[in-house]
Amino acid sequence: MGESQVVVGLSVPDGARPAVVHTYRELLPLLRTGPRAVVMTMGALHQGHLDLVAKARELMAPVGGQVVVTVFVNPLQFGPAEDYEAYPRTLPDDVAALTGLGVDLVYAPSVVDMYPAGPPLVRVSPGPLGAVFEGAIRPGHFEGVLTVVLKLLQRTTPTVALFGQKDAQQVAVVHQMVSDLDVGARLVVVPIRREPDGLALSSRNRYLDPAQRQVALALPRAIAAGEAVAAAGGTVMAVRAAAWAEVADRPGLSVDYLEVVDRAEFTPVLDAWTGPALLIGAIRVGSTRLIDNAPIVIQATSGGGPGA
Ligand code: PAF
Repeated sequence: MGESQVVVGLSVPDGARPAVVHTYRELLPLLRTGPRAVVMTMGALHQGHLDLVAKARELMAPVGGQVVVTVFVNPLQFGPAEDYEAYPRTLPDDVAALTGLGVDLVYAPSVVDMYPAGPPLVRVSPGPLGAVFEGAIRPGHFEGVLTVVLKLLQRTTPTVALFGQKDAQQVAVVHQMVSDLDVGARLVVVPIRREPDGLALSSRNRYLDPAQRQVALALPRAIAAGEAVAAAGGTVMAVRAAAWAEVADRPGLSVDYLEVVDRAEFTPVLDAWTGPALLIGAIRVGSTRLIDNAPIVIQATSGGGPGA
């Protein structure tokens, strides 16, 4: 893409750098009436984020809508022992990566702009979904996520908000919030982007040294193994077993969880389950936590299908 795209009502030429604002006060007058897509990020952008932006642009171009990207490392969603301070902050690189992608606006607020009165006293409770898997391992994480997501939705007033499938439980809690609290934005979920070796793209992959990265590949292999067994008609137990075989007893790696769950509720499915499910996994390699998942469909009950 070299020249400006001719899109009715859309005025961002290809190659154009998005406007960058740091305060809610600066943001408000730049929000146009009409459709708008928002992609919320914590920066350190990679191709996975850019896929969300491309989808946002694809949805907004025909309707002359705006594309807004937010960049904010949200302290509320980090636990005391987590990497809030160390989390990569790369705004100039992020803006460069977004240049030419049809992004109208980057909103990169400070903590003070986002939480002017200090940490908010009223927060969004994720309910039961916030207490399992990622929520159990990272207490308070989803409360922090939902609180900032709701604030960013209020501030950017999108018609569409895009999220990545890699953070599957985040997608589920945001869906629940949007549904339970009548939030007027449509959610669009974009598939996981993987490296050629299978590792799901994540801003935290940069923490891995080359040896750790090799170890980390056990996670996408586990997910792929489970997916293959499900596609071949395997039972829940067979899927679980195939996935675990890839990560069990691997030096340098510990498993937080690897489970087949209900897609909306994140409760482990029964061994006799058939139908749509989600294979989810989280591992630690050194001090780096990695998550991954794949939607699967279980066709066979115990007693039938390969590997049952
Ligand atoms: O997925 C993320 O990057 C964050 O959790 C989000 C949605 C931007 C909220 O801080």
